[in-house]
Amino acid sequence: MKINLANIKKAKKLLNKNECIAIPTETVYGLAANAYSDQACKKIYKLKKRPKKNPLIIHYFNLKKLRKDCFYNNNFLRLYKKFCPGPITFILDLKKNSKISKIATNNKKTLAVRFPKHSIARSLLKTLEYPLAAPSANLSSKVSAVSSSDVKEDFGKKIKYVLEGGRSAIGLESTIIDIRKKPKVLRLGGLTLGSIQKNLKEKIKINNSPEKITSPGQSKLHYSPGIPIRINVKKIKKNEALLFLKNNHKANTNHFFLSKKGNLNEAAKNLYSTLRKIKKNKFKSIAVKKIPNKGLGKTINDRLIRASKF
Ligand code: TXA
Ligand code: MG
Repeated sequence: MKINLANIKKAKKLLNKNECIAIPTETVYGLAANAYSDQACKKIYKLKKRPKKNPLIIHYFNLKKLRKDCFYNNNFLRLYKKFCPGPITFILDLKKNSKISKIATNNKKTLAVRFPKHSIARSLLKTLEYPLAAPSANLSSKVSAVSSSDVKEDFGKKIKYVLEGGRSAIGLESTIIDIRKKPKVLRLGGLTLGSIQKNLKEKIKINNSPEKITSPGQSKLHYSPGIPIRINVKKIKKNEALLFLKNNHKANTNHFFLSKKGNLNEAAKNLYSTLRKIKKNKFKSIAVKKIPNKGLGKTINDRLIRASKF
């Protein structure tokens, strides 16, 4: 997407005044503010209605800018060189003299960091004197925003500015990996486990597999379009929309597919916007047909399982 410098300038001006704005990223839109400012970070929590104990991901332009705030090791460097900028978030140890707001970290000694790939996000980060704290730009527990209109739908006039960046290319949040000791994935996301594993010698542990959700805490409702979702469904109920991967069903007003040819990357990109569309079309619930549990299908299933805990 073409970079509009006037828009970047406007975004910068507001951020410098400790305001909170929405920015595009390749995963989902983020609700961004100066990560070095308590006042700015507080606005994110308030706007998003996010519990204070849930820390924020910090977005950097590059490694040079990260050095002031975090320690890192060889495994981090390996993944950084291969995938960044891109849809991966690292948990690192925070430096004692870091200026990151304690509101953003909730006083934790670790920091979640990410280097977004979206050209507009990068061009903004490059001009700022500070990194950006940015959770997904949706109300807490709801489905993430993948376009500027999604953000406006959720926040209306409460948000000072939405930096336009078109549709998010990946459409699912970043993969979160704790890389400090033995690599451990904490959230499945837009970068597949297979591609991360190929670049590490140790076997990655997974702390967030959808099949392993056993405790109610882990499975609490998230990524919800606001109506019930039933997964792996064979038969649908009255007033229900049917969501399936591939466009091989008879055209019907209650049928929604995620990808014409069943491509999982395309399906990921379309997932959240399709859930929003079904809700807007006034269906009472969503029945989802089985989606293959491989590649980004794993992340899609993870999100659908969480969204089904209505
Ligand atoms: O793709 C993404 O990651 C998007 C875009 C905007 O960058 N951001 C995003 O942020 O999904 P959010 O806040 O919706 O999800 C961040 C997750 C939260 O579940 C939070 O608990 C976790 O990251 N997190 C943040 N700091 C952490 C830390 N120090 N240790 C473990 N988890 C952390
Ligand atoms: Mg989120």
